[in-house]
Amino acid sequence: MIWIGGVAFVTIVLIPALRSSSFRGDESEIFNAIENRFAQIARALTLLVGLSGFYMIYQLDIWNRFWEIRYFWMHAMVLIWLMFILALFLIEPFFIKDHGRIVKNGHSIGNLRKTQMVHAIILTLSLFTVFVSVLGAHGIYKA
Ligand code: HEM
Repeated sequence: MIWIGGVAFVTIVLIPALRSSSFRGDESEIFNAIENRFAQIARALTLLVGLSGFYMIYQLDIWNRFWEIRYFWMHAMVLIWLMFILALFLIEPFFIKDHGRIVKNGHSIGNLRKTQMVHAIILTLSLFTVFVSVLGAHGIYKA
């Protein structure tokens, strides 16, 4: 909840506020300062979600769900989780750590526009997964 809620906040509050305010010129630096802080929290939370999720699968012994199409929402959860693990542990720290500096040097003017698009896509996929998973966990796709 905190993880996906944080993504929602960044996408529909923080980025639009920075893009439409008087922070012009500094928006990427402010964004990075806040987002880096949230990334630390999100890293811990994704690990917790992975541990608790796989523990549930192990405890309930429901690995066979991954072979059935009506449990597509199980695949969706693991895919979203994997996407965030890659983003938070690999892509962000090693490939886009210097975003702030790149923008300051004037190389990437429309930077937050692209950031907003990427976050909007990630948020949409996450919310879709939450929606289909609640339905799935409550037996809506039973044959
Ligand atoms: C490695 C990643 C994950 C694993 C292994 C995992 C596993 C599980 C399992 C075993 C359940 C219980 C299913 C049942 O009651 O039949 C569950 C429920 C659920 N999961 Fe995940 N999950 C993971 C990631 C995620 C993510 C990233 C999200 C959100 C985007 C998510 C959202 C949900 C929701 C909404 C439920 C249903 C809760 C309910 O209404 O009872 N999960 N998950």
